[in-house]
Parts: sequence; structure tokens; C-alpha cells
Amino acid sequence: MDFQVIAKPLTSHACDALAVGLFEPPGKLEGPLASLDRAIGRRLTQSLLEEGFTGKRGQTAVIHTGRTAPRRVIAVGLGPEKEQNPETIRTAAAAAMHRAADLRLQHVAFAPLRERDARLRFYTQARVEGIILGAYRFEKYRSEQGRPVARVDLLAADRAQAKAVERGLADGRLFAEATVLARDLVNEPPNVLTPSRLAERAAEVGKQPGLRVTALGAGGLTRLGMNALLGVGRGSTEEARLIVMDYAPPHQRRSVALVGKGLTFDSGGLDIKTADQMASMKSDMAGAAAVLATMSVVPQLVKHLRVVGIMAAVENMPGPGAMKPGDILKAMNGKTIEITNTDAEGRLALADAIAYAAGQRVNEIIDIATLTGGAEIALGPFAAAIMGTDQKIIDALRDAGEEAGERLWPLPLYEEFREAIKSKVADLRNSAGRWGSPEKGGAFLREFTGGKPWVHLDIAPVAFIEREEGSGPYRPVGSATGFGVRTLLTYLRRLDTRR
Ligand code: BES
Ligand code: MN
Ligand code: ZN
Repeated sequence: MDFQVIAKPLTSHACDALAVGLFEPPGKLEGPLASLDRAIGRRLTQSLLEEGFTGKRGQTAVIHTGRTAPRRVIAVGLGPEKEQNPETIRTAAAAAMHRAADLRLQHVAFAPLRERDARLRFYTQARVEGIILGAYRFEKYRSEQGRPVARVDLLAADRAQAKAVERGLADGRLFAEATVLARDLVNEPPNVLTPSRLAERAAEVGKQPGLRVTALGAGGLTRLGMNALLGVGRGSTEEARLIVMDYAPPHQRRSVALVGKGLTFDSGGLDIKTADQMASMKSDMAGAAAVLATMSVVPQLVKHLRVVGIMAAVENMPGPGAMKPGDILKAMNGKTIEITNTDAEGRLALADAIAYAAGQRVNEIIDIATLTGGAEIALGPFAAAIMGTDQKIIDALRDAGEEAGERLWPLPLYEEFREAIKSKVADLRNSAGRWGSPEKGGAFLREFTGGKPWVHLDIAPVAFIEREEGSGPYRPVGSATGFGVRTLLTYLRRLDTRR
């Protein structure tokens, strides 16, 4: 998609469609839109009335102007004026792109936003994210492909505005393209995207300056004593990988480790899942995809932080060598784990990855994982769960998530959960039943943090959109969302520029 920022009156801009956001209720058209309306004999006002356009969030209407500059107007409802935030702009932009795609349009322009300066930059970023993510389709394996919008113009009221729009466009592209990378990785079928393939993708991304990418296979994992991660992979013919993407700029104010669960497929292992539960389990590497995608743009966004991305990539299968209920595994940090359910494999893979992160002398550890179905039961497809040992980081991540349009809702790590994950025959057991499973999963992971400030994001509810419920103009059904990428980037950008 080709973007251009253009400072020019919208009444004379030739394009297939001009997208305009209108509040609820729409009120009288103002400014340049009113001029356009006058120029076409109030057709805009009339058609909106006739179509019953109320300005409700996500509502759209297409009005033909009878001219070429522009040919049509796509009106998008923004909801009430006092409820505006980046997310309403993001959603509206995505809805406009849907209408444009349905009409097979090639060239779309967006009317100027009303904001100025820093706020304009920020709102433009959200708009561009909505445009790119709203147009997203995963079609590479289809013979018949859609014809996406080829050109998008962002109109600016004047030269000064154009500057802020340019900046917002650059931010929005960076954030959206990283999100697209995460989506693509998750949407890839599990026969293609194996642990070794994920490591190759990380290495490709790592070719840019500032990033150092390494991957450990069976030999390296054995040498480091990562028997929990290795245990998960033993029922599969695919070899596990620990992938590390290290960004270490010369002047570092702090360091952050991002750890991602990378189950390229989770069959459940010997405690095998039902067909229904298994159907979407290619998405069980969404945490690792979010880390990889975040790391892919960190060098362009972060100046004074060391960021270490660590991905535990492995396949959970019930092959002949598979780990069995009753097995006891010794993790990298020396703790022993009784396997009580082979389907609680994410925490095993993460145990070693988090222990590895703790050994990297970082100031904080953030892990992101499709860890439990219980988080989905609790929150529906509307928010990810957040928990951890550092309230400041939790608050900062939730704040970043708010800005990114990604909700993070807190769950508790009560003392009882520490007791629940103890085993009679080993230090820990990997599963302690369904009740409070997201918190028990969190309590389990905490055992491997070496006391470092740590926060856990359980993105199982929101990583992949399976049904209509939870879907939206930039969250298509049957696709990965790339959840977490924009939150992590927002968080890191703030941490980097904070004095
Ligand atoms: N990958 C699943 C969690 C999951 C479920 C992700 C649904 C996305 C959608 C995880 O490995 C798992 O199987 N968790 C078990 C844990 C239980 C055995 C303690 C679960 O949630 O049922
Ligand atoms: Mn599982
Ligand atoms: Zn899993």
C-alpha cells in the first residue's frame, strides 16, 4: 500500500473515495466538508439523511458525488464526540477500508483530522494502524486473491499539519507493519511454520544493524539443562529451538527481556485435546510471534534500552518419545517438575526461557503467552490477562495497552496458588486443575524468574479470532490479531524516552 501526505483542499482531490469520520449525531457539516457538500448541491447532507446515517460507531455510508474529485464519499460513524480516542479513529479507518475493498476501489483519501501537533501525530498513527490492519488479509495460499486498495492519501489542512501527519504516518506504519508480521507468522499453517522455520524467520529479521540473533537446537538446549523445554518437544519429529534476538545499543538506561511462548502446534500431547480444542492450535506461538515482530522494529524505535527477545519454539505432539503424566523433568534453574498434564506445556517451555532471561542480567522480564483456556473463559475475546510481581510495570503496560487498543485485565497471584502448584514427588507440578488455571499458570512461571521484576500476559483469549464475537473491522474472523505487538512497542517507546 502506497501512502502520501497531501496538503490540499479535499474539494479538488481526485480519488475513488474520500473517507470522512462523522460524530453521533452528525450535526451540520463543517469546514471543507461543507464546501464539498455545497459544490455538489448538498447531495452529501441529503444522502446521509436518506440513508438514516446516525454516526454510530462503525456505521458506514457511501455517497456518489457525480464528480471525479472525489468520486465518492465514504462516511464512517465515530460515535459521540466526547468519547473520541485513538481506538475510535483506528476502528473507523478500518471500517472505511472495508467499504473501499468491498467496492474494489484502488485509490482512497482520508479527510484531515481535527487535532493539531502532538495529538495529531498520535491520532494519525492510530488512523494508519486502522488503515493497514483493516486491509489485512492472509491469502497467500489462495488461488483467488482480492484486489487490495493500492493507494491511500492522508489529506492535511496545511503545511504545518502535514508535518505532524508525516510523523504519525511513520509511527503508524512501523506499529502496523510489525503487527502484520506477527499476524502472518501466526496465520502460517503449522506444517510450514515449525520451530526451525521460526528461528530462520528471526534470523532474517535480525539482519538489520543492532540486532544479534542466535538459536539453540537440541545440543545447546541439552548443554544448558533446558529439560522442561526439551521435554515438551520429545513427542514431535520437529526439533525445539530457543531463539534469542538481542538489541544492545551503546548507551543503555535499562534492559528488558521479552519472552514468548512459541508452541508452533499444541496437540495437547498424550493428554490430547479434542478436535474442537485443537483446531486453532497453530496460534499457540502467538506470544513468540509478538516478541519476534516487536524485535523487528525495536532498532528503529528504541535508542537507550537493551531489549532481549527470547522465544521458546517447540511442537507438542503425542509421538513415541512424548513426555508422560508422571514424568519428572529438571528445568534449567534446577527446579524439578512433575508432569501432571502434558497439555500444560506452555509453562514448561517458558520455565526454561524465563530462567534464561533471568540469567541475562536484565532489569525486568515480560512474558507473553497463549497460556490458558481459563483466561478465555474469564475474559471472553475482549481482553488479555495480566499478572506479575511488579505493580509499576503492570500499570505501565495496561496504560500502553489502552493507547494501543489492546486491553489487559489483572488477575491475582494469591499465596494459595503458590501452594497449589507444589508436588508431592517433585518441587512443582505443571498442572493444578482448571480452577484458577490462569493464576496457577502465572504462579508456576514466577518460580523461574529468579526474583526479577516480572509480568505475565496471558493472550489466549485474544490472539486468534475464531468467531464473530470479538471480531471487528481490524480483527477479521479466522485470523490472528498480532495482539501485544503495539502494546509492547508503546511501552518500550515510553520507557526509552522517560527521563
Ligand atoms: N495452548 C493452550 C491454551 C489455549 C487454549 C490457548 C485455548 C488458546 C486457546 C495451553 O497449552 C493449554 O492447553 N492449557 C490448558 C492448561 C491446563 C491443562 C492446566 C488449558 O487451559 O486447558
Ligand atoms: Mn496445551
Ligand atoms: Zn499450549
